[in-house]
Amino acid sequence: MDSPQADVKTTRLADYTPPDFLVDHVELDVDLRDGQTRVTSTMQFRLNPENTREGGSDLILDGECLALESLAINGEPVAENRYRYEKDKLTIESVPETFSLTSVVRIEPEKNTALDGLYRSNGMYCTQCEAEGFRRITFFPDRPDVLARFTTTVRADKKRYPLLLSNGNPVEQGEEGDRHWVTWEDPFPKPCYLFALVAGDLACLEDSYTTGSGRQVSLRLYAEHRDLDKLDHAMLSLKNAMRWDEDTYGREYDLDIYMIVAVSHFNMGAMENKGLNIFNTSCVLAHPSTTTDAGFQRVESVVAHEYFHNWSGNRVTCRDWFQLSLKEGFTVFRDQQFSADMNSAAVQRVENVDFLVNHQFPEDQGPMAHPVRPAEYQKIDNFYTLTIYEKGAEIVRMQYHLVGPEDFRRATDLYFDRFDGQAVTCDDFVACMEEISGRDLTQFKRWYSQAGTPVLTVTDRLENDRYQLTFRQHTPPTPGQAEKQPLMIPVRLALLDETGEPG
Ligand code: SER
Ligand code: ZN
Repeated sequence: MDSPQADVKTTRLADYTPPDFLVDHVELDVDLRDGQTRVTSTMQFRLNPENTREGGSDLILDGECLALESLAINGEPVAENRYRYEKDKLTIESVPETFSLTSVVRIEPEKNTALDGLYRSNGMYCTQCEAEGFRRITFFPDRPDVLARFTTTVRADKKRYPLLLSNGNPVEQGEEGDRHWVTWEDPFPKPCYLFALVAGDLACLEDSYTTGSGRQVSLRLYAEHRDLDKLDHAMLSLKNAMRWDEDTYGREYDLDIYMIVAVSHFNMGAMENKGLNIFNTSCVLAHPSTTTDAGFQRVESVVAHEYFHNWSGNRVTCRDWFQLSLKEGFTVFRDQQFSADMNSAAVQRVENVDFLVNHQFPEDQGPMAHPVRPAEYQKIDNFYTLTIYEKGAEIVRMQYHLVGPEDFRRATDLYFDRFDGQAVTCDDFVACMEEISGRDLTQFKRWYSQAGTPVLTVTDRLENDRYQLTFRQHTPPTPGQAEKQPLMIPVRLALLDETGEPG
């Protein structure tokens, strides 16, 4: 008999290879019908010029819990002996170098209690695709380094689902008897983990925002009708975040519409799907009579966090899930900076450090300890940790202090410009810091690969007008990493004279 571990597959960073095929465009048609939802997708594939694998032009796609109805290449049905669908992979033999693949599948969102992929929550349909939920909607190369432009048509019953949303801008709509449909076009190439779809009967708070370059953006916040009066703070937070990202990072919003949908059943706090964020109600609804000050600040920071992902995560995304902190650590750092600017910077910093010390440190010192950029994982869903997010943010913060605010801004400008529309790595981020500042951050990068909290022993001494500070560091072993190397730790200090003035 197999041991329980027999099925556990380990994915290793060292084994990364570029995708065999790229997808230029996906046309999705999602026909929502209770108990018999059908998804038709037409994908334009082309062989990846970076593909170095010898021979073999089999196409391998991810797919979970999909009932396959038909497959066609360039409009011709694929013969049954040319493909197989087993163990969550669809393999089609000997495909050409460029072709379109049309697949029709049935899915059952009503039975999907994993809240991953497409599911129903309180009478509405919604999605969560990060990290690997899209493969439960249709066949696709479900990995973040395959970026495609999506056109999505959503069809459903008019009365029960008057609102049909997806990523991008709405371009067409129509009616067929008691059903209707809307087509959305997202002009920005994105990995499928950023795909989203919502169908339901929701109330909307609408406002608008004019970007620095004069682009008018419609802002739409959706919630259940009884919660309409709890969206004002999220709207204000969104507008503040949009302005702040222009002022602080020179980043403007890029679509005509920005939407947030509040959903009561949601695994994560919120999700940054392109143009269509989906939030757990707890992170977006707030009302003066029922929400504490801390609750208001949480809404402000989560709304900002998801908005900031539009650049740090969506426009520039991760090459693979080992790089998760590339977008999460950086985006947490950005939302911490934003909250510091909106509120008291000192209180904000004390709260962030308090949270790190009381929650991330124990993780880093216990059986769950893992590096900010892990070397391997069994299930990526388990890696949305405080280490990836909070320690990841501290690593970005150290780089901010090492290179200084001006060079940091120049380096992030370089990062966003150079890698716009690409899927990159933590090394690419640090390389921009090095290039702009002229510093060698090779040793600093150990922070990404070494787990554990370094313990410092600090002594000081004043002798003959000379002040001497001595730091010793020691990182206790963590699971799978017995040997630890010294880490570069930037230290800020000031000396004050007896009147309290800088000496
Ligand atoms: N990508 C999501 C976020 O951090 C997952 O929670 O915003
Ligand atoms: Zn995030």
